[in-house]
Amino acid sequence: MEVVIVPDAKAGGELIAEAVAQLLRRKPDALLGVATGSTPLPVYEALTAKVRAGELDASAARIAQLDEYVGLPAGHPESYRATVLREVVEPLGLGPGSFMGPDGSAEDVQAACAAYDAALASAGGVDLQLLGIGTDGHIGFNEPCSSLASRTRIKTLTEQTIKDNARFFDGDVGQVPRHVITQGIGTILEARHLVLLATGEGKADAVAATVEGPVAAVVPASALQRHPHATVVVDEAAASKLKLADYFRHTYTNKPEWQGL
Ligand code: PGA
Repeated sequence: MEVVIVPDAKAGGELIAEAVAQLLRRKPDALLGVATGSTPLPVYEALTAKVRAGELDASAARIAQLDEYVGLPAGHPESYRATVLREVVEPLGLGPGSFMGPDGSAEDVQAACAAYDAALASAGGVDLQLLGIGTDGHIGFNEPCSSLASRTRIKTLTEQTIKDNARFFDGDVGQVPRHVITQGIGTILEARHLVLLATGEGKADAVAATVEGPVAAVVPASALQRHPHATVVVDEAAASKLKLADYFRHTYTNKPEWQGL
């Protein structure tokens, strides 16, 4: 995997937005896998700025959701469907028809999971999947010890993730759903390009385990080591526990410019 150390979250957002822009110039109807949480916001802001400045036509882009809470009423503002519509689809000027995601309010959750995997495949697969990382090393909502071959399915959140996400629910852990639908690690690994963004010191341990530890289900993000095109973009704080930080800086500085991310 390639590790790119950037000065701060804004620089990470701009770098990834440029990679997305290059993809959309090459393939205007690319299927972009998007993540929720605080980390990817600078990417969406930078992408939106490019569209508003007329530098990028994203009108044919298609958007795929990574995960979803189970049991929130349809339209709940913290459902990931509502979040992605608000943070990505609307700012980029896309219609709701450009968007696909798992149905977290389905009565038959297992059928909804299988339907989502099938929908991703019939859409031609995800071209670029943006990922955050949990403090426990999760990607999507694949919590520690998730099968590295897993498909989209229901998962139970760890207590740590419930605490981490309570900030979106008035700080009340009681309001955070206990279950989610998430693309499996096997599903995520089928995307053509994986781009993981991590910012802040709180992610430093998870980043070090992901990049420099063994591939292990206990650190779900370490599965990126098995992907042929995985990029990990980290700010200085999130990179602070990487032993090979100087090597990563050296290789990126000397990278041929035409390679892009
Ligand atoms: P965060 O969440 O970006 O809000 O830190 C990341 C994640 O849980 O995947």
